[in-house]
Amino acid sequence: MKVVKTIEEMRRLRQQTRGTVGFVPTMGYLHEGHLSLVRRAKENDTVVVSIYVNPTQFGPKEDFKSYPRDIPRDLAMLESLTDIVFMPEDAEMYPAGYDTWVEVKGITEGLEGATRPGHFRGVATVVTKLLNIVGPTRAYFGQKDAQQVAVIKKMAVELDMDLELIACPTVREPDGLAMSSRNVYLDPEERRGAAVLFKALTLAQELWKNGEKDADTVLHRMMALIKQEPLANIVYISIADGKTLKDVEEIKPPALVSLAVRFGKTRLIDNVVIG
Ligand code: PAF
Repeated sequence: MKVVKTIEEMRRLRQQTRGTVGFVPTMGYLHEGHLSLVRRAKENDTVVVSIYVNPTQFGPKEDFKSYPRDIPRDLAMLESLTDIVFMPEDAEMYPAGYDTWVEVKGITEGLEGATRPGHFRGVATVVTKLLNIVGPTRAYFGQKDAQQVAVIKKMAVELDMDLELIACPTVREPDGLAMSSRNVYLDPEERRGAAVLFKALTLAQELWKNGEKDADTVLHRMMALIKQEPLANIVYISIADGKTLKDVEEIKPPALVSLAVRFGKTRLIDNVVIG
């Protein structure tokens, strides 16, 4: 496994590769969810993983500084699965005077976009840069960040990017909590309470299966369940059209049921798709 820090070195290695390249962009502090993407990327001849905590996708009051980092641990986890790890510094990605941004309109306006202004501009910009640097045949993203997947897919189509984007299923803890680097922030009580998120998403799926099509009814039942958990503070719960990501009144598949909930200082997101 080669670890490279500069764009020039990454490009040089890319030019030496033969066959297909699978790319998994990450912000590090890896867990089983990331590793499932890397294992899937092994369907390619070469696997590249990037580790870069992208400052431009964090708001001024968000957790950029405290975002968990452990490079030696990450590299040990990747050693047997990855050919190249790209780990640029901020000055490499955003040199002084940097002033170019990628902005996807429309589907970035609701959900995470509404509560994290500027987040998707940072994501779209860094993903574009990483794809340009790595030049993959296929790139792999986790469905836990459902809106991110939709934004990147739309961007790739509309900017005529020549690659395949693959969304992989959310990997969950035994109690259903979606794996996330941010789970490490949760204290034991919050961690126990956080299991309510997947219970609420499962409830939505069950109600739908039993014939409930009214989004408001489902949202109220989900909210009531989450509110039984005293440590949970709901940021949003949404049932949206699976393509436009706009909230719906009547649930028609594919519908994205998604939520953001705070436990103390930790903001967790999760989702399921109906239909
Ligand atoms: O999902 C993430 O970890 C990040 O948003 C990504 C795609 C690596 C861009 O920084």
